[in-house]
Amino acid sequence: MTPRAIAITGASSGIGAALSRQLAAPGHRLALIGRDPDRLEQVAAACRSKGASCQIGCMDIRDAERLSAFVEAFDQQQPIDTFISNAGILDGRHADQVVENGETARRVLETNLLAAIDAVHLVLPKMQQRRHGEIVLVASLAALVPLPDAPAYSASKAGLMSYGLALRDAVAADGIKVVVACPGYVSTAMADIHLGLRPGEISADAAAALILRGLHRNKSLIGFPLVPFWLSRLSLLVPEFVRRQGMRGTRFHVGQQARRPPPVDES
Ligand SMILES: NC(=O)c1ccc[n+]([C@@H]2O[C@H](COP(=O)([O-])OP(=O)(O)OC[C@H]3O[C@@H](n4cnc5c(N)ncnc54)[C@H](OP(=O)(O)O)[C@@H]3O)[C@@H](O)[C@H]2O)c1
Repeated sequence: MTPRAIAITGASSGIGAALSRQLAAPGHRLALIGRDPDRLEQVAAACRSKGASCQIGCMDIRDAERLSAFVEAFDQQQPIDTFISNAGILDGRHADQVVENGETARRVLETNLLAAIDAVHLVLPKMQQRRHGEIVLVASLAALVPLPDAPAYSASKAGLMSYGLALRDAVAADGIKVVVACPGYVSTAMADIHLGLRPGEISADAAAALILRGLHRNKSLIGFPLVPFWLSRLSLLVPEFVRRQGMRGTRFHVGQQARRPPPVDES
């Protein structure tokens, strides 16, 4: 297997942890970025047991200076082939609210959109110089379907999807591949705080496998599950009142974050 250097944000949990474990292989170097040192260490141990070498970057991705220093040092040891921007938070309307507050909206947009774009620009110039690299942006089906219970989350994911698709065309001639993943409901700590129906929920391992298959096939937009993905895309074409009617069963509120047990390797 050709050695690869891969950096993943949000690697300590859920989809990011599953991606890390599935990408772990002899000769591969993984940079695992997240905030929780214990869970990052557990994911690193699982990846090392598969023969990968791992470096942990314990930080808030909104701390641009720390993230830049970490990514720079990792890239110097071995140029980054694949960068996966996966870290994200879900917040929105809580049980006692009609709408999320402004502070929540700002935090969600800073984390899911602005920090993700900043992170892309840490690796992009190096990839352009080398005329080689892959960038994966993990958005959401919420990018296509605005959620009244999480307006900033929807906006952050729509912005990220739009940014990624635009960037893909801008840097294709530089030999860089950019793909955007739009998962539906995935069973992770994030899903645990989405208190409402979650139809078609799949496991984090299944979501990671679909994202990696889409990356391998160089699909610009990796949306899943297929039926919700296509319904979401088509919903943009119908009159607004029809779309709203269709959204009635999707209302939810955000609950308190509960700590999930350590990830188990199912791959
Ligand atoms: N689960 C779903 O149903 C679903 C659906 C569509 C899209 N997504 C997207 O998939 C991605 C992964 O979510 P998930 O479901 O796997 O959720 P998760 O289990 O809660 O994992 C989120 C990851 O992001 C990291 N993170 C969050 N804020 C961060 C920050 N400021 N700095 C550094 N790391 C940060 C977390 O790190 P720590 O835990 O270490 O703080 C964790 O590793 C997110 O972008 C999410 O929006 C999820």
